[in-house]
Amino acid sequence: MGMMDQDILKVLYSEEQIAQRIRDLGAEMYEDLKDKDPLFISVLRGAFIFMADIVRACQVKSDVEFIAVSSYGNAFSTTGAVKITHDIQQDITGRNLVVIEDILDSGNTLHFLKQYFITKGAASVSICTLLDKPSRRAKAIQADYIGFVVPDEFVVGYGLDYCQKYRNLPYIGVLKPEVYQGE
Ligand code: PRP
Repeated sequence: MGMMDQDILKVLYSEEQIAQRIRDLGAEMYEDLKDKDPLFISVLRGAFIFMADIVRACQVKSDVEFIAVSSYGNAFSTTGAVKITHDIQQDITGRNLVVIEDILDSGNTLHFLKQYFITKGAASVSICTLLDKPSRRAKAIQADYIGFVVPDEFVVGYGLDYCQKYRNLPYIGVLKPEVYQGE
């Protein structure tokens, strides 16, 4: 037990379950992307761990980019406004993009990014998210590849944070309410 485990109410997906799901997802994506010279774009920070695993699970010839956005809101929800704080470093005209996210929640972030990449000339923009929380959707957007559909609970680990902590938990868990009480 590490010192963070005591803050976790329950484990939603174990390290092994995540690894197995990513293997299957990677194989599915391989079939779709093998002739497409895809560019994988990870949305920092939350997706950094998933990115590392999914690109190795999908053995297509590809390259990677990183984009960072800040969405206005608090620890519980984002608002509609999204700002790019670190942009991608190459021309994406005509490229087939696969945006890699840790979680699709309200949809504000991916709705904004999909539009942004299309405006920049991408040939296609697919979305791959490890977690999908459709119950919270505020924008009309859906992912093409989904790891797990999750209930509306406060999930952390495997990249997902609470106040920038818990990203390095190897599993995905639900945070104990007393940890974030008073917010
Ligand atoms: C999280 C997550 C997505 C976004 C999803 O990022 O990584 O980017 O929120 O929420 P939405 O669908 O409601 O827009 P966060 O803003 O917490 O930053 P982080 O990636 O640095 O954790």
